[in-house]
Amino acid sequence: MKIGIVGAGFVGSTAAYAMVMRGVGSEIVLVDRNGELADAQARDILHATPFAYPTKVRAGSYADLDGAGLVVLAAGVNQKPGETRLELLTRNAEIFGGIIPEVLKAAPQTILLVATNPVDVMTQISTVIAARHGVPTCRVIGSGTILDTARYRALLGQHLGVSPKSVHAHVLGEHGDSEVLHWSNAEAGGLNVAVVGDQVGRPVTDAVKARIDDEVRCAAYRIIKGKGATWYGIGGGLARLAQVIANDERALVTCSMLTDSCLGVPQVALSLPRLLGAAGVISTLTPDLDEAEASALRHSAEVLKSAFDGVAL
Ligand code: 2OP
Repeated sequence: MKIGIVGAGFVGSTAAYAMVMRGVGSEIVLVDRNGELADAQARDILHATPFAYPTKVRAGSYADLDGAGLVVLAAGVNQKPGETRLELLTRNAEIFGGIIPEVLKAAPQTILLVATNPVDVMTQISTVIAARHGVPTCRVIGSGTILDTARYRALLGQHLGVSPKSVHAHVLGEHGDSEVLHWSNAEAGGLNVAVVGDQVGRPVTDAVKARIDDEVRCAAYRIIKGKGATWYGIGGGLARLAQVIANDERALVTCSMLTDSCLGVPQVALSLPRLLGAAGVISTLTPDLDEAEASALRHSAEVLKSAFDGVAL
């Protein structure tokens, strides 16, 4: 599969690098309004291919996205220290209004994978713009909480002393401040993590839960304070989503998509567990939430819905 990446900054280029390291895609085309940057990133990543997979990596124009099965949208401005993801909205909405028609002119059949923040609202905006070009909702996906879910699994795995690959726990709702860590059915080895914690002598106490919640929810703020932006976690997450699509894996992942109704909130893009394959999102699962989680998810949906409603399209 040919993969396009629009935006060759930290996130776009790290996603390309992670794809090369995983052997995802036969060709990767980097597009950036700064052509020199795209070219430099593409050359640098190409030089890693002898250590990984023989992916063709190059810089190009929108026209070079011709035939791409997946285009990652990673263009736009990112958060300054202390700024929330939602504060970026107006600036990034304008940028996408210019980009998406160009992408779809070259690659009308592509899946769009939005990475730009605030990613849920940007996914909903992209869905509206893409629909004007005949693209169905299931082909416009946002990375959403793939990253928060990864952070949650990594931290839970670290606490339990268990590989994060054996931990199945999801973050739902907004990729941002109102996100919901789904504790009530977080599992490892088919058992609730609370049971696993007791059995391995590392109890998942309320204090542990509060620490992990804080570390997941505030991860980006802390990383941005230290190094200005985040890119490795999201780069890995984007490469994983690209792999699922390229291999038609039908994997269950938490990613963002416009959803008809979430706990009574209509027409909102947010993350839920979704079955993903070559055609995009195949179906969405309804998570089994306790009362507090359901109320937190409803609140998250309301936050996103009101942010989207404030955008003029
Ligand atoms: C992150 O969570 C900033 O959304 C980015 O790392």
